[in-house]
Amino acid sequence: MKKLIIAIDGYSSCGKSTFAKHIAARYHYLYIDSGAMYRTVTLYALQQGIITEQGIDEEKLKSSLEYIDISFTFDPATLQSIHFLNGENVEEKIRSIEVSQHVSPVSKLKFVREKMVALQREAGKEGGIVMDGRDIGTVVFPEADLKIFMTASPEIRARRRYLELKEKGIEASLEEIKKNLMERDLIDSTREESPLRQASDAIVLDNSHMTLEQQMEWIDPLIRKLMQS
Ligand code: DC
Repeated sequence: MKKLIIAIDGYSSCGKSTFAKHIAARYHYLYIDSGAMYRTVTLYALQQGIITEQGIDEEKLKSSLEYIDISFTFDPATLQSIHFLNGENVEEKIRSIEVSQHVSPVSKLKFVREKMVALQREAGKEGGIVMDGRDIGTVVFPEADLKIFMTASPEIRARRRYLELKEKGIEASLEEIKKNLMERDLIDSTREESPLRQASDAIVLDNSHMTLEQQMEWIDPLIRKLMQS
């Protein structure tokens, strides 16, 4: 059986990671959350005072990159992925509103992207992976076996994020979340470096009105066919 590289790109809070995790668990693949890597760099920059109200100290961030060690685990049984920053479990911290508010400007920086893309290619080079993000099918793995571009209406996405945060005990207003999503979509799709866009050979999946089960039913035949090719 061929070990595929599956790239899942799309807007913020489309359910990319939930979908990707379920695919990884079903096919015993590794799940790689590329957004978490940008979030981890952002957390580091916040913790070190590299991001202030004045903005990002780019020179400092650039010279700090070599001190940022990012690692992760994925447990297919629980669908839990845990990210570590220099050995510390930062899974909860990287999902905070504060990190969400600063991650797009950080992920615009060319030197940050270069380092993250190199890490992502290394992590996925053996195949048998599902990676989600914004530029996986266009930049990280342009030769991916299967590319999905996910989208859903902003209202539905905001509501999903709201419920996700609520479940984790994190208070946030629906309006605030929607505003953050729209801002991130705008920055992510208009930035100069690797903007979010649909790869010409990606298949679009609008899951606004689809359950996870329906999404799995949709993708299963595509994966099975490719595995046997
Ligand atoms: O998927 P996410 O919301 O956790 O991603 C956080 C941010 O990281 C998102 O606003 C854009 C950026 N990102 C990126 O630029 N490229 C990727 N491959 C993944 C995420």
